[in-house]
Amino acid sequence: AGFFTYDPGFMSTASCNSNITYIDGEQGILLYRGYPIEQLATKASFLEVAYLLLYGDLPGEKELVGFERLIMRHTMLNENLKNFLNGFHYDAHPMAMLMGVVGSLSAFYHDSLSVNDPRHREIAAHRLIAKIPTIAAAAYKHSVGEPIIYPRNDLRYCANFLRMMFATPCEDYKPTLIAEKAMNLLFILHADHEQNASTSTVRLAGSSGANPFACIAAGIASLWGPAHGGANEAVLDMLLEIGDVKNVPKYIEKAKDKDDPFRLMGFGHRVYKNYDPRAKIIREVCYQVLDELADNDNPLFELAMKLEEIALNDEYFVERKLYPNVDFYSGIIYQALGIPRNMFTVMFAVARTVGWVSHWMEMMDDPNNRIGRPRQIYRGPNQRDYLPISKR
Ligand code: CMC
Repeated sequence: AGFFTYDPGFMSTASCNSNITYIDGEQGILLYRGYPIEQLATKASFLEVAYLLLYGDLPGEKELVGFERLIMRHTMLNENLKNFLNGFHYDAHPMAMLMGVVGSLSAFYHDSLSVNDPRHREIAAHRLIAKIPTIAAAAYKHSVGEPIIYPRNDLRYCANFLRMMFATPCEDYKPTLIAEKAMNLLFILHADHEQNASTSTVRLAGSSGANPFACIAAGIASLWGPAHGGANEAVLDMLLEIGDVKNVPKYIEKAKDKDDPFRLMGFGHRVYKNYDPRAKIIREVCYQVLDELADNDNPLFELAMKLEEIALNDEYFVERKLYPNVDFYSGIIYQALGIPRNMFTVMFAVARTVGWVSHWMEMMDDPNNRIGRPRQIYRGPNQRDYLPISKR
């Protein structure tokens, strides 16, 4: 009992007004600023979508070129940031490195940043979108003990990222068109998803007027968990653990067993109760990518298909409206592109940064913005008196 509505997990609480992303969970509809995800994913470039999310409309030709130039101008990192990376042990999780280094940007851009100045906010947003791939690739290079590869601003966003991941000082790297296309699509699908846990975290952190780089670091922390962005890595872990198609029924039973903490990773969604439209797109692309990479007898994909088939026909999953979500397939594509497993959630973070900064900008522009401050239902002891330790 209490004076406040108890809503664990915010199942029925709208925390803000937003013009950015629309989801209809019953019908499997996802719109960015009114545009269906199916159209954007197949027709747009990632930076085009970034512009749309940030500014509310698709850019014209000139605007897009200007925006691309602007973003690519900010891709370099201050050399001193390398020292933060070097402080990490080689086997640190890249999400830990990403969170730490993005957080440290707050110290680098503190003086030039007033969160009350819209122009400063916009520059912070551009810097975040521009620098996050550089930091992500640098974290990867640190984990494999290779020198950091600097950005090349004449390349497209995804091509530049792939090059920073896979080039070495001895050998340049030019991504295949299919790899670039697949990454562009995955980034668009992950770019925003309204008030999910990490975006809500960014908004809550930012509602106090905190530094935006620090707020995005908070979003990265929230994304990391296996119930959220960590699911794509967890799906691959799960597929490897299952190991063989013949073991699928056993794991399905485990997932249904309430005494077993195991869940089918990549299944279920808080909002989508019929299907996840992102999963539908990505499933198609998964076929194409594996086909073009001549990887179509990929045993993990085969295993994933079997798992999907059995789960979709099982009463437990049908009753609870549990369908494959976007991350059921994203890891399989990333793996086919040569991205290591511990980088999957980092890839998600790079893409979602666009959504995070769009929401942060929208919130900071909103005259109704006040500090986020949920209440609680207190269930602890009634008032009591302090006793000296000898009397307890
Ligand atoms: N495997 C087995 N049972 C499940 C699963 C699953 N993956 N997901 C939900 N359930 C069951 C759950 O046990 C509960 O059963 P019951 O009613 O008998 O107690 C029922 O379905 C409802 O689940 P819930 O946990 O109350 O639902 P939620 O809305 O709080 O959680 C979720 C949504 C996505 C966290 C959850 O489905 C889950 O943990 N899925 C696996 C992790 C995953 O794939 N996450 C990625 C989400 S998509 C990417 C992103 O946007 O972050």
